[in-house]
Amino acid sequence: KTRILPVIECLVKSLEPTTHTTKVQRNANLAKLQGGYLFPEIARRRNAHIQKYPDAKIISLGIGDTTEPIPGLITLAMEARAHGLSTLEGYSGYGAEQGEKAMRVALAETFYGGMDIKDNEIFVSDGAKCDIARLQLVFGPDVSIAVQDPSYPAYVDSSVMMGQTGAFRKDVQQYSKIQYMRCSHENDFFPDLSSVPRTDIIFFCSPNNPTGSAATREQLKELVAFATINGSIIVYDSAYAIYMSDNNPRSIYEIPGAREVAIETGSFSKYAGFTGVRLGWTVVPEELLFSDGFPVRNDFNRVMCTCFNGASNIAQAGGLACLSPEGLKAMNKMVSFYKENTAILVDTFTSLGFKTFGGRNAPYVWVQFPGRDSWDVFGEILEKSHIVTTPGSGFGPGGEGFIRASAFGHRENILEATSRLRKLYL
Ligand code: MLT
Repeated sequence: KTRILPVIECLVKSLEPTTHTTKVQRNANLAKLQGGYLFPEIARRRNAHIQKYPDAKIISLGIGDTTEPIPGLITLAMEARAHGLSTLEGYSGYGAEQGEKAMRVALAETFYGGMDIKDNEIFVSDGAKCDIARLQLVFGPDVSIAVQDPSYPAYVDSSVMMGQTGAFRKDVQQYSKIQYMRCSHENDFFPDLSSVPRTDIIFFCSPNNPTGSAATREQLKELVAFATINGSIIVYDSAYAIYMSDNNPRSIYEIPGAREVAIETGSFSKYAGFTGVRLGWTVVPEELLFSDGFPVRNDFNRVMCTCFNGASNIAQAGGLACLSPEGLKAMNKMVSFYKENTAILVDTFTSLGFKTFGGRNAPYVWVQFPGRDSWDVFGEILEKSHIVTTPGSGFGPGGEGFIRASAFGHRENILEATSRLRKLYL
């Protein structure tokens, strides 16, 4: 007993501020990152705003987080699987690291019919962002990468963490060694590939987050040809494909030759409100080979087996229900609802005289504030209207002078946001 007290005292002391440091060196790559990840940083500013205005009713058009309830037939399937886990017959432990066979088959049939994608080329996971990080483990620190500018920040940040980049250059707001492919309304949001140096990996998101633009078939043919000639690998992020209104490809595998040069990630997050449930997938075709002829798929499989234990069995039951005929109908209904929100936001910003882009093929509206600093505009809208948006520069230097408005929200909140924006900018 007498020995316990000093131990407790010691523990208590250790909770007090201390100057003790370990002898472990900080990962120099993490030290290169500029501030926090974009969305937690926005959440931090939102929280500070709540402290300042405790009574304000904040509306979020910021992070693309779904708000509408998951259709009942999908949650019923998850409920049944969850309940089954409490029975001898229904219990299952670790699943296949690559995902359940039925799930992989359903994904291949639903999203890749006629594209020659086989179920064993699809890896079911806990989401596209997590797969991007795991793909970086496959590529390692020595590859060069290109990203659309602006682009979803996970590509750049995971590349920095992996050690593929040099330091952040404040003068150009870019990490050295990354090729930023400028995509603006001036080039139809598609990079001028003739001026892009060769890189090993090309991250490409279409429909695009944050600009909402979607690449045409001709543009994607150009991209695949560019990757083929350069011996590059495209990581094609199709997380918003279901939002496509125009007749553009929904998958890179609609383009001949893509099997030899492209990986594709997808997600149920924005399709079925699975941002919290967590379910996504990545396609790695057998023909995609490293320079020594080794299949990329085998290395991705190795990483998945080591760093992942398979997607949750309950989430996969939900995913299978999503891909049933009724589930597909329910998902499309939900997507239509968010697309109506997008149209309302586009109308509002346009009627206020702003130039907007996107909105037709993705749940994001890209709004131009010429000559203005994106974080200033973000601050102005938050301060005066209690609305959270996302500053365009958070997606790369090409996003400066823009904000992104997300269409994920309850209808009454979207309408309330539009009336506050009218008051602010009319
Ligand atoms: C976004 O707001 O860009 C997305 O919600 C982020 C994500 O999907 O991780």
